[in-house]
Amino acid sequence: MNKVGVIGAGMMGAEIALSFALHGAVVLLKDISLDLSTAGKSRIEGILATWEEKGKIESVESSKAIERVIPQDDYSGFDKVDLVVEAALEDIEIKRQVFSELDKVSKKDCIFATNTSSIPITQLAASTSRPDRFIGMHFFSPASIMKLVEVIPGVDTSEDTIGKTMDIVREIGKGPVRVVDRAGFLVNRLLFAFFNEAWRIVNEGVATPEDIDKAVKLGLGHPVGIFQMQDLVGLDNALAVSNILYEEYGERFKPSPLLKRKVAANHIGKKVKKGWFDYSK
Ligand SMILES: NC(=O)c1ccc[n+]([C@@H]2O[C@H](COP(=O)([O-])OP(=O)(O)OC[C@H]3O[C@@H](n4cnc5c(N)ncnc54)[C@H](O)[C@@H]3O)[C@@H](O)[C@H]2O)c1
Repeated sequence: MNKVGVIGAGMMGAEIALSFALHGAVVLLKDISLDLSTAGKSRIEGILATWEEKGKIESVESSKAIERVIPQDDYSGFDKVDLVVEAALEDIEIKRQVFSELDKVSKKDCIFATNTSSIPITQLAASTSRPDRFIGMHFFSPASIMKLVEVIPGVDTSEDTIGKTMDIVREIGKGPVRVVDRAGFLVNRLLFAFFNEAWRIVNEGVATPEDIDKAVKLGLGHPVGIFQMQDLVGLDNALAVSNILYEEYGERFKPSPLLKRKVAANHIGKKVKKGWFDYSK
């Protein structure tokens, strides 16, 4: 990959841009304003500074990666990129608008990838002129560290596009898994099956969130507790995903009443300093 475009310079977009820049690609990082795309680049600089302090990267290498990221608020240069990864807000209308703009400026053979967590890939692909070159590339947070990318073809995605996308994921040092376009893809289905049972265990009074987190870390080797993870992701976001899975798969993913009560009380996690755990001190 010589040059890629990344749309949306928020949490995911900035880290996706960094993943490409670290492997030699020039990244056009576009947000709705120069302030926002520059803030995305600053996030990248902050991550690299921490890595340098920890001795995980040489300063020459990190400076080169920073230089490769070009913050912008328009599509200049997008006519030269072979791949665009869209990581704008999780809103179908915003994403459709972005892809219709990209369709006008991009090369015919440019691959369009979306990092959506919940919008059907086929539905987004159908709103472009290139459903055969449209695909889901679902990164995990923090994307500069997590090695998995779910590669999700839509109904009309060509085998050529799928193969190229799997290769690109490997080129940036990550591992692709190919998944059919169904709600939750692969990891969120597994994760929410796990979450659901944990919520039931708490509801039944069998164990506390503290002890469940201790158990999954010590007994299953998870690096982060699952209630701690929910606090980081936001319980409101967890409930939204739960509802999407319930809609697609029915009873087995029915949102937990306990989770609903926590969200109703606005105990939605670290961002409000209160979720399963207290972060006020
Ligand atoms: N947060 C996660 O853990 C996670 C994991 C996997 C996938 N995702 C998906 O990644 C996408 C981005 O999530 P995020 O957490 O980075 O959100 P975020 O809110 O941090 O960033 C979204 C960015 O998109 C920008 N944006 C909005 N409209 C735009 C437009 N028209 N053109 C360009 N930029 C625009 C916003 O200004 C913002 O900077 C979403 O689709 C989300 O579902 C998120």
